[in-house]
Amino acid sequence: MLDRISTKTLTAGLIAVTFLVIAIGGVIRIYDAGESCPDWPTCFGSWSFDVSPEEQEIWWDENPDEIDSRGEHHRYTTFQIFTEWVHRLIAGVILGPLVLLNWFLVGRNDESNSATKLAAAVSVALIVWQGLIGWFTVEMDNEHWSVALHLASALAFELSLIWLWLCISRDTHETPKWIEFDPILATRWKNRIAWLGFGSFIALFAGVFVATTPGANTGCGVNGFDSWPLCHGKLFNTIENLENQSQIIHRWIVVIVEIALLAAAWVVMKEQDQHQHGQILRNWIWTATGLFLLNVVVGAFYIFSWTADSGFEEWLSLLHLLLASLTFLVLATVWLSTSVGTLYDTNVETLE
Ligand code: HEM
Repeated sequence: MLDRISTKTLTAGLIAVTFLVIAIGGVIRIYDAGESCPDWPTCFGSWSFDVSPEEQEIWWDENPDEIDSRGEHHRYTTFQIFTEWVHRLIAGVILGPLVLLNWFLVGRNDESNSATKLAAAVSVALIVWQGLIGWFTVEMDNEHWSVALHLASALAFELSLIWLWLCISRDTHETPKWIEFDPILATRWKNRIAWLGFGSFIALFAGVFVATTPGANTGCGVNGFDSWPLCHGKLFNTIENLENQSQIIHRWIVVIVEIALLAAAWVVMKEQDQHQHGQILRNWIWTATGLFLLNVVVGAFYIFSWTADSGFEEWLSLLHLLLASLTFLVLATVWLSTSVGTLYDTNVETLE
C-alpha cells in the first residue's frame, strides 16, 4: 500500500516538475538562450553556469567546431546560461533518476497491472529519448523542426506520466470523481476528443515554427488590426513560403480548431443533460475551449505588444506556449481516461 501511495504521489510530482521544465524550456527560447550551453552534458566544458565571456572565448578557441550560427564573437550572459543549465539540471538530475525509481517501484509491486507497468516503462523510454532530442536540438543549432520535435516529445513524456497516474489510480480504486466520466457519453465522445486533441496539437506544432523561424513572428506585420486579425491588411494571403509565412498557416489552423471546440462545447452541453455524470465531461471540454480561446487573445496581445524600441513582449509568447500545451494536455488527458477504460469502475447497468 505504501508503494501505491508513493508511486501515485511521485507520479503526480513528476507531472508537475515536467510542466516546470517545459516552462523553463520556453524561457530559454524567449531569452534566445538556446545554445548558451553549446555542449552536452557539460556547459562550456564546465558543470557550472557561471562562465565568463573570457572563459567562453577560450572554449570557442579550443572547440571551433561548436561555434553556432551567432558566430564566435557572440557572448552569452550568465542569466542565459543559467536558464539552459537549470533546464538540463532538472531534467537530468531530478526527472531522470526519479522516473527510473518510479518505474522500479511500479514493477516491484505485485498489484500493478500490465498497463501500469507498460506506462511506467514508456515514461522511462521517453525521458531517455527526450535527453537525446535535447542534445540533438543543441547540435542542430536550434533548427525550428528540431525544437518542434523536442516540444512534441516533451508533451508525449508528460502524457506518459498522466497515463501512469491514471493507471495507478485505477489499480487502487482511487480515481477521483473529477475524472470519472459517464461511460455512454465517454464512448460517444472518445473519437471526437481525439480529433480535438490532434487539432490542438497541430496548432501548437505550427506555432513552434512561428516562434523559431527568424522573422516569422512579424510575418503578418506589426500594424495593429491590420496585423491581427488581418494579415498585412488582408483576410486571405497566398502562401509562397511555408516557413516564413508559418504565422498565417498557424492562424488558420487555430481558426478551424476553435470552431470545432466551440461546436463541441455546444453539443456536449446539449448531450450532458441525458447522462448521469455528463457534467464532468462537459466541464473538461469547456475548460479546453476556454483555454484555447484565452490563448487566441494572448496571441493577439503578443502582436499588439510590438514597439519599435523593444520589439514584442516575449513573456506573452511564453504564456502562449504554456496555454497551448495545457489545452492539448487537457484534451489528451480526457482521451486517455476514456480510452484506457480505466476510470469508470461503475458498470453501465447501474445507470439503467
Ligand atoms: C524532460 C526533459 C525535457 C523537457 C520536458 C523539455 C522541454 C522543453 C520545451 C517545452 C522547450 C521549449 C520549446 C519551445 O519553446 O517551443 C525546450 C527548449 C529547449 N530544451 Fe528542453 N526539455 C527537456 C530536456 C532537455 C535536455 C536534456 C536538453 C539538452 C540537452 C534540452 C535542451 C533544450 C534547448 C536547447 C531548448 C531551447 C530551444 C530554443 O531555443 O528554441 N532540453 N525544452
